[in-house]
Amino acid sequence: MPKTKRTPNLPPFRIAPATRAAIRRALGRWYSRNKRDLPWRRTADPYAIWVSEVMLQQTQVKTVTPYFHRFMRRFPDLVTLARADLQAVFKQWEGLGYYSRARHLHQAAGVVVDQMGAHFPDTWEGVRQLPGVGEYIASAVLSIAFGRPYAVADGNVKRVLARLFQLTWPVNKPSAHRRFQETANQLLNRNDPGDHNQAMMELGALVCTPRQPGCQGCPVAAYCRAMADDAVADFPKRTKRAPLPERRIALGVVNKSGRLLVIQRAEGGLLGGLWEFPGGTVVDGEDPRAVCREKIKARVNLKVSVMERLATVRHTYTHFKLRMDVFNCQWQTGRVRLNGPAGFRWISPRRISDLPLHGAMHKALYSVLGRLSPDTEESGG
Ligand code: ADE
Repeated sequence: MPKTKRTPNLPPFRIAPATRAAIRRALGRWYSRNKRDLPWRRTADPYAIWVSEVMLQQTQVKTVTPYFHRFMRRFPDLVTLARADLQAVFKQWEGLGYYSRARHLHQAAGVVVDQMGAHFPDTWEGVRQLPGVGEYIASAVLSIAFGRPYAVADGNVKRVLARLFQLTWPVNKPSAHRRFQETANQLLNRNDPGDHNQAMMELGALVCTPRQPGCQGCPVAAYCRAMADDAVADFPKRTKRAPLPERRIALGVVNKSGRLLVIQRAEGGLLGGLWEFPGGTVVDGEDPRAVCREKIKARVNLKVSVMERLATVRHTYTHFKLRMDVFNCQWQTGRVRLNGPAGFRWISPRRISDLPLHGAMHKALYSVLGRLSPDTEESGG
């Protein structure tokens, strides 16, 4: 995609000072009466607030809540998290997806403990040094935990702003982000930035929703330009995205005397450190069974016979769609010698889910478990 911006370099959108003040007041009042009682709103601990914001960045409140409770029970403070094994952190994260968030959280806890005296940083420069802390997390944590004047501009906030001010910048276009951020900065209530930011996000989550927004109960309806024009459904604007490319892989459930082979992905790459069945990418025109056999030979040095297909599993990532054909395989000869993966285990099917697995592997495991031949189950304990 060409990097050139096609949007002209317009001056920033300005909100009149009286309008800003009126919106802040109405929003603040509404939030104090309507905010949800969420576990991370009952604490002033920057560590807990940071964990919650990292979880919430790509995941909804409903999903996050039980994960947050479990995570905080297991890793109640920065030192416990920093000293924990990364695999244990991944296990707590399983199902939330976007595993780089968990890896960064663990790394960042190490940085705070080892280099910052275990005090969570309270400045922009301090938090931005931490792995995985971008503009959103920095603004959210600094404003909520420390009352610092940084505005957040996540998807909910952008939708609210787009409707309030009839902003035509596409919300899904990265180059439009700066303009939404500037608009959010102008509206920020600098006397109470944490509650202001949460109120904007809460309004987007509860009232100014993508579909069927509750405009009748909206605290800022009187200032909403889209509502005045009966055009709420026309905002926010989006650019059409090209469909995601499909990547196809073939995986083998390799059985040797009732145990199955799982391998650990190399650190550093996509989903690094997580466990999966061995296999590899199928290029257009290739036979997935042949690919399965060849990749297993190339990556773990085993000769296997590839039998029936156990399942076809689909999983969508941010940048591509995955189609996974999972084959039943029988070990024939060879000892495992790794070429790529970071580790391997021969493991009973029932124990596989003790390991941290990525989302696609989870789906693969659960769709094949019931279909494996009975002698795949561990015999005699
Ligand atoms: N989304 C992400 N963080 C949030 C918060 N603190 N309150 C409401 N919605 C959120």
